[in-house]
Amino acid sequence: MELNVSLYRYNPEKDEFPYMKKYTITKPEKDIMVLDLLNLLKEEDTSISYRRSCREGICGSCAMNIDGTNTLACTKPIEDVKKEIKIYPLPHMPVIKDLVVNMDSFFDSYKKVMPFLVNEDEPGERERLQSPEDRDRFEDTTKCILCAACTTSCPVFWTADTYVGPAAIVNAHRFVFDSRDNASKQRLEILKDVDGAFRCRTAFNCTTACPRGIQVTKAIEDIKRETLTIN
Ligand code: FES
Repeated sequence: MELNVSLYRYNPEKDEFPYMKKYTITKPEKDIMVLDLLNLLKEEDTSISYRRSCREGICGSCAMNIDGTNTLACTKPIEDVKKEIKIYPLPHMPVIKDLVVNMDSFFDSYKKVMPFLVNEDEPGERERLQSPEDRDRFEDTTKCILCAACTTSCPVFWTADTYVGPAAIVNAHRFVFDSRDNASKQRLEILKDVDGAFRCRTAFNCTTACPRGIQVTKAIEDIKRETLTIN
């Protein structure tokens, strides 16, 4: 069986505009993922550019838009997509080449929310202890792999890229609700800002897009509520 692939191509050094290039490939016998398909295409056309590393849905580097949905190419079976597979870079991101986008603004927003544990107190003889119940408060948001599938699927981000975005809020959530952390107030002050959590319009695109199954919209709502508790 033949597979038709329509691939976004753009090399700013050569092309005036982006375009969709069509490839036809014989479907391999074994089940493969979209990333394997890209690797097969790259054997034919070495100019195709995309990011990948772990092939296990862990590093977050292969996020792209496949048939209209942001997801990870390495965990998306080709069986899940239609006869003609359409592959685009993550939406609303500056394209460096083909499927490779510039992630600088995404990581600037991530850094803004202080995504690290802040605690100057002496930890004592052993590690800082935490009850299982306290750990559960942020269990879900520890799963983020910073692939940007959520932020780049958000309609608010598409119209206002100053919005800090779902991924940054998820990573703030991971520390705001950590009983060992002492900087929740600082993070919540940042997220109270006009470009913070209240920009969210609960479209749920982020929750749908998250390849790790994080309840992103719920995490944003948790943060919104928590900002109301600070003076
Ligand atoms: S290659 Fe690492 S998440 Fe896909």
